[in-house]
Amino acid sequence: MAEKNNRLVDISWKEFDKLGPNERAPYFNDNGRVFHALLAQQFDRPALDRLCDLATNIRKIAKSKEGMQFLQSLLNHKRVMFYFTQPSSRTYLSFCAACKILGMAAADVRDAATSSEMKGESQEDSVRTFSSYFDMIVMRSKTSGLAEKMAWVLANSERPIPIINAGSAQDQHPTQALLDVYTLERSFEHLGGVDGKSILFVGDLKRGRTVRSLSILLTKFREVTQFFVAPKRFQLKPDSQKILKEAGVTFELSGNFERYVPKADAIYMTRVQDEWDKKPGQSRKSDIVKYHFKVRHLRLLRPHAILMHPFPRREEIEVDVDHDPRAMYWRQMRNGMWVRVALIATIFQCDTEVLAYYRKHLG
Ligand code: NCD
Repeated sequence: MAEKNNRLVDISWKEFDKLGPNERAPYFNDNGRVFHALLAQQFDRPALDRLCDLATNIRKIAKSKEGMQFLQSLLNHKRVMFYFTQPSSRTYLSFCAACKILGMAAADVRDAATSSEMKGESQEDSVRTFSSYFDMIVMRSKTSGLAEKMAWVLANSERPIPIINAGSAQDQHPTQALLDVYTLERSFEHLGGVDGKSILFVGDLKRGRTVRSLSILLTKFREVTQFFVAPKRFQLKPDSQKILKEAGVTFELSGNFERYVPKADAIYMTRVQDEWDKKPGQSRKSDIVKYHFKVRHLRLLRPHAILMHPFPRREEIEVDVDHDPRAMYWRQMRNGMWVRVALIATIFQCDTEVLAYYRKHLG
């Protein structure tokens, strides 16, 4: 089992709860290495570069049967628990696949109605129960900050196992942002990487947690411009704007989709997050159709630019756009599996073993 994370033990929940995300982030790392993966703020540029390189090495190792057997031997003594009480297909399945690649045994709770929470058990007690049987928890929740609270609870228990945030409320989705960065890095491999690029975010930027996390990770790159195009009611929240201002990032907010398409190196489309509507149907009021990417927009898109989407998609990108080589969302999904393998390998400190295998057999 991983060692106790002393920093989280040294602070009361009350004190910790008062901290902003920048101050919280180091508490989830251990000696500069990610332990709990809960916030995008935990990843600095060297950590991002290391994760992307590791994901690429793993991807190449996994191409052969011997390589796959090596990967499966790394964590076949560990067990993972998936605690997904909010809908998920891609994130859940890519984590399942990633853990399987590393040989981990898995179990899940996907519906709080099937767990003892229905008998009145607190979420704290539920998570402590999971930690009795497993070595890592991957969780998605509609409760803001729950994964952070659990990390603190576990740090102060006998089994301080790592927690990965697979999507928390409207706040953050850090592993999606990692796969988005990996996709950008791979796509611009021969164009100097992410540095110096312009990224255009479109859709529900207010409630989309993938946008919030990716926007933070992009601040770790040099001279990246961020454009946010959405109807006013879905524009980026002030706290996210503040992060960009403090990081000295050039960014613009606008309602004019077609004007920004030709300016972007990458366009990140998102769906309306109407599950958060206070009154059903409330989101339908906005004229979102003019923020949809249609086949006719392809001619406005720069030749090297890429089109991304965390999915699920509704009408944000016309299906016929999928044939264009700049449509990157299917590859983006597969990248998610590799980057999650890399993240878990890093958390369990077997990254050096992977690199040694790569050098010996493929380097
Ligand atoms: C996203 C999410 O759950 O935040 N999906 C995902 O994990 N790929 C985006 C969304 O639901 O719109």
